[in-house]
Amino acid sequence: MALSLSKRKRPRLEDKQVAQKSKTEEEVFDRPTFLSLSKMIEKGIFDTLDYPICTGKEANVFRARSKDGFVAVKIYRTTAPVLKRMHKYMEGDTRFKGIMHNKFEVMKAWARKEYRNLELMRAAGCRVPFPIYCDRNILVMEFLGHEGVPYSTLKDTGSLNPQEDSNLILKDIAKLHAAGIVHADISEFNILMDDRGPYLIDVGQAVLLTHPQAEDFLLHDVENLVKYFSHHGVDADIGECLKKIRKV
Ligand SMILES: Nc1ncnc2c1ncn2[C@@H]1O[C@H](COP(=O)(O)OP(=O)(O)OP(=O)(O)O)[C@@H](O)[C@H]1O
Ligand SMILES: [Mg+2]
Repeated sequence: MALSLSKRKRPRLEDKQVAQKSKTEEEVFDRPTFLSLSKMIEKGIFDTLDYPICTGKEANVFRARSKDGFVAVKIYRTTAPVLKRMHKYMEGDTRFKGIMHNKFEVMKAWARKEYRNLELMRAAGCRVPFPIYCDRNILVMEFLGHEGVPYSTLKDTGSLNPQEDSNLILKDIAKLHAAGIVHADISEFNILMDDRGPYLIDVGQAVLLTHPQAEDFLLHDVENLVKYFSHHGVDADIGECLKKIRKV
């Protein structure tokens, strides 16, 4: 005879999963976030929140279903260690003046900034997800994936044609620079790959060229790119890449 649930000893893994699930819920689904998601459903932005695609340093990203297909929902968490990392991007940005110590206000401004950065980057002709909606600490954007399965990061999937992909990313960085923007966190973790090449994602930290550290961020982006592709047979000079970027 099967044991009743109360008498059955739950395996350790199950305990761990339950703990992880409630940790995620605790971290993102506070009451105001829940209400904001409900309002989005009422507005028809999406119909159901399916599952978490990723729990990152700053946010949890979910796949959601709308009547037109899938969308990605990024919910920023209001936890302290995350805010520390954000400070270097916020200093010198007037949009964060006076709110730097209010976790919720920072996350709200950050999500809005990511939405706006996506708009600017699309307008610059760069391959980034299309921004759909933003409310409080929640950003809804185009779902990058095939038949409901999200594309993998460059880190996970690698590149079939490193020279071409490296050039495409460099071209996107140049287009952004010409439009007065620096991504400021380019790495193999923030690039998703489809058959036609790379997409830049995670653009909340992107800064305008007027930011006091914009040039340092640009150099760091190019260094990261050159370093990653140098391990995959692409020989590029950082100085030459910067020259090309500035020419556009
Ligand atoms: N528009 C999207 N479509 C599909 N998947 C996405 C989309 N945006 C993000 N993702 C997935 O969610 C992951 C985390 O996204 P993102 O880098 O924007 O958040 P993050 O909190 O900064 O995460 P991390 O700390 O890992 O950088 C991505 O690696 C990717 O797998
Ligand atoms: Mg990221």
